[in-house]
Amino acid sequence: IAQGLVGLRNLGNTCFMNSILQCLSNTQSLRDYCLHNSHRRDLNNNNHTNTALMEEFAKLIQTMWTSSSSEAVSPSEFKTQIQRFAPRFVGYNQQDAQEFLRFLLDGLHNEVNRVTVRPRGNMEDFDHLPDEEKGKKMWAKYLEREDSKIVDLFVGQLKSSLTCSECGYCSTVFDPFWDLSLPIAKKGYGEVSLMDCMRLFTKEDVLDGDEKPTCYRCKARRRCTKKFTVQKFPKILVLHLKRFSEARIRTSKLSTFVNFPMKDLDLREFASDRSSSAVYNLYAVSNHSGTTMGGHYTAYCCNPENGEWYTYNDSRVTPMSASQVRSSDAYVLFYERPAARHCLEAMIDGGGAWSARNAFSN
Ligand SMILES: *[C@@H]1O[C@H](CO)[C@@H](O)[C@H](O)[C@H]1NC(C)=O
Ligand SMILES: *[C@@H]1O[C@H](CO)[C@@H](O)[C@H](O)[C@H]1NC(C)=O
Ligand SMILES: *[C@@H]1O[C@H](CO)[C@@H](O)[C@H](O)[C@H]1NC(C)=O
Repeated sequence: IAQGLVGLRNLGNTCFMNSILQCLSNTQSLRDYCLHNSHRRDLNNNNHTNTALMEEFAKLIQTMWTSSSSEAVSPSEFKTQIQRFAPRFVGYNQQDAQEFLRFLLDGLHNEVNRVTVRPRGNMEDFDHLPDEEKGKKMWAKYLEREDSKIVDLFVGQLKSSLTCSECGYCSTVFDPFWDLSLPIAKKGYGEVSLMDCMRLFTKEDVLDGDEKPTCYRCKARRRCTKKFTVQKFPKILVLHLKRFSEARIRTSKLSTFVNFPMKDLDLREFASDRSSSAVYNLYAVSNHSGTTMGGHYTAYCCNPENGEWYTYNDSRVTPMSASQVRSSDAYVLFYERPAARHCLEAMIDGGGAWSARNAFSN
């Protein structure tokens, strides 16, 4: 039987945590990083006083993937550490799964950051460079400070372009992102697609009135349009569907059915550079059922070993059909860009019209 099919005990309203932990446990590269103890090397190079969050996380993942029994595991040691890092998770209140994910990834990242001495902030600007190069420089600058396995996997880069409606001057800003929070598109009634939500997120916005920015060329406040494109797609793309009016004070929930593809989510139309590879497959979903504070979180994950889907409801793990994964409760979606190696294997197997073998023959 497949490994990794181990439930997590609910310690009292901790289903939000369990749901996210299961999604991360089924994130193959992160799981392998823990299973192979690769995190130790990064911890050793780091002189931060406390590295217990990463250690407890890795220990938990190891237990989940090497346990010979299918009995549920208690994440209480891990919870102690996440509370130390983020005191807001002290106690047993229901929390928002996406916020928890952000805190957790940030905490793990800090403990395995390969950067031990951060360079002094310098005010170097790259505004004179073409956009493509400016994006690369900004990314390199980010890596000088934040560089870890977590960043390798989850972090991408967004470009926002501000265009002056007077003179047409376009200024650009590049920012790293750890996930994308997508507004839910409205279409009268019925379902919307994930692409509709992506289009709404990247839709051109007009900044006018009080919001008018200062145009660099006109040297005056002007009406501008603002638009996002993705400059760099991460290996793991986390998409958060903004179902709640506000994460902390949840006053209402949208239960719109957002239809999303399980395979070949093609996001190239949102790329700054259309030639970048931006096709993803779904491998995990954090499901929120119920209303605002009173709900319950579960996870659906595709086991990286056998490719089958399972439902993780705290301590219970049950097989499910891939056809059930899409529901109006999907809340946080985990997509992965298939590794290039898979494509090569497919070619070597003769799966494609062009086979690697042909490239080497005569
Ligand atoms: C690591 O230790 C060195 C030497 O004590 C110190 O200069 C550096 O700031 C420390 N780095 C961090 C990230 O704390
Ligand atoms: C997801 O939420 C829906 C709606 O409440 C629920 O019917 C379904 O059982 C949930 N799935 C899982 C696996 O929790
Ligand atoms: C999760 O398990 C609980 C019992 O522990 C059950 O009441 C609930 O219906 C289950 N939810 C889903 C969505 O499977």
